[in-house]
Amino acid sequence: MRILVTGGAGFIGSHLCERLLGEGHDVLCLDNFFTGAKRNIDHLLDHHGFELIRHDIIEPILLEVDRIYNLACPASPVHYQYNPVKTTKTSVMGTINMLGLAKRVRARILQASTSEVYGDPEVHPQTEAYWGNVNPIGLRSCYDEGKRVAETLMMDYHRQNGVDIRIVRIFNTYGPRMAVNDGRVVSNFVVQALRNDDLTVYGAGEQTRSFCFIDDLVEGLVRMMECDGFIGPVNLGNPVETPIIEFARRIVELTGSRSEIVYRPLPADDPKQRQPDISLARQKLGWEPRVPLEEGLRRTIADFAARLSAGRS
Ligand SMILES: NC(=O)c1ccc[n+]([C@@H]2O[C@H](COP(=O)([O-])OP(=O)(O)OC[C@H]3O[C@@H](n4cnc5c(N)ncnc54)[C@H](O)[C@@H]3O)[C@@H](O)[C@H]2O)c1
Repeated sequence: MRILVTGGAGFIGSHLCERLLGEGHDVLCLDNFFTGAKRNIDHLLDHHGFELIRHDIIEPILLEVDRIYNLACPASPVHYQYNPVKTTKTSVMGTINMLGLAKRVRARILQASTSEVYGDPEVHPQTEAYWGNVNPIGLRSCYDEGKRVAETLMMDYHRQNGVDIRIVRIFNTYGPRMAVNDGRVVSNFVVQALRNDDLTVYGAGEQTRSFCFIDDLVEGLVRMMECDGFIGPVNLGNPVETPIIEFARRIVELTGSRSEIVYRPLPADDPKQRQPDISLARQKLGWEPRVPLEEGLRRTIADFAARLSAGRS
């Protein structure tokens, strides 16, 4: 198949491109390089099935493709809050453009949505039936509400125009090639530990997060895209919940760091708990995460260590 991956030069996108090429597909990687980087896909450039397109999805584009993975969107608060209006445009106008393309060339389209559509959840763990508790006017709203509208657009193009859609709600994912400067907990802790700097924990560190290793996530994305008769939304994430403080201690241990753990006030709108209910993914896709946190962290730490020692971000 000819497969378009928007945001293909980003963290998740680059791993997905690699996987799809490995399966023998032709891959069109489209990216505006806002948070993505050429070095993420350097190793794919010589592959005969790989094409790179520098383009911004808020502008329309016409391509002949069979599948569209719509991943383009900055994913971490530092990046999506840099230009919040642009973030909303990417989710809204970008998704409209990709849905228009899917409609025109009759491609199947998968939207990368997020656990952030649940906001600060009052239901725990979150099932796909939960509508969420999202602040519409906060600093995170450009991302959260943008992704919620993207889901709405997907459903309406499906109902109104019969577009073949898939929606996945991705929970925290980590692994090699995550941006060193994305300000999220995994990269923060790993970088701080590798530099023997203090590890910054917000609040008392009792808030929990679940972390899914990138290979598991990519497996879930591909299964969902190729699953017949099920459009989602479906949660993809790791249900194993870890308090942030415990996570910090694990990273210090695995890096053999001399870092201390220090505490800072909780930022606004920071969710207290986040855990996916993945019953639906198990049932419909036969999917669940397989890579244990320790193994995933070792592989992530090795990649960060190599990049930091080479002076790359
Ligand atoms: N990483 C996670 O834990 C996570 C969790 C939930 C959802 N997601 C979603 O998965 C997708 C990929 O996330 P990621 O972690 O790989 O982030 P990332 O920032 O590494 O990748 C996003 C990519 O999209 C590109 N991009 C951004 N705006 C664009 C635009 N207007 N036009 C074209 N390209 C554009 C960026 O340059 C980058 O390469 C995003 O849609 C994100 O919202 C990620």
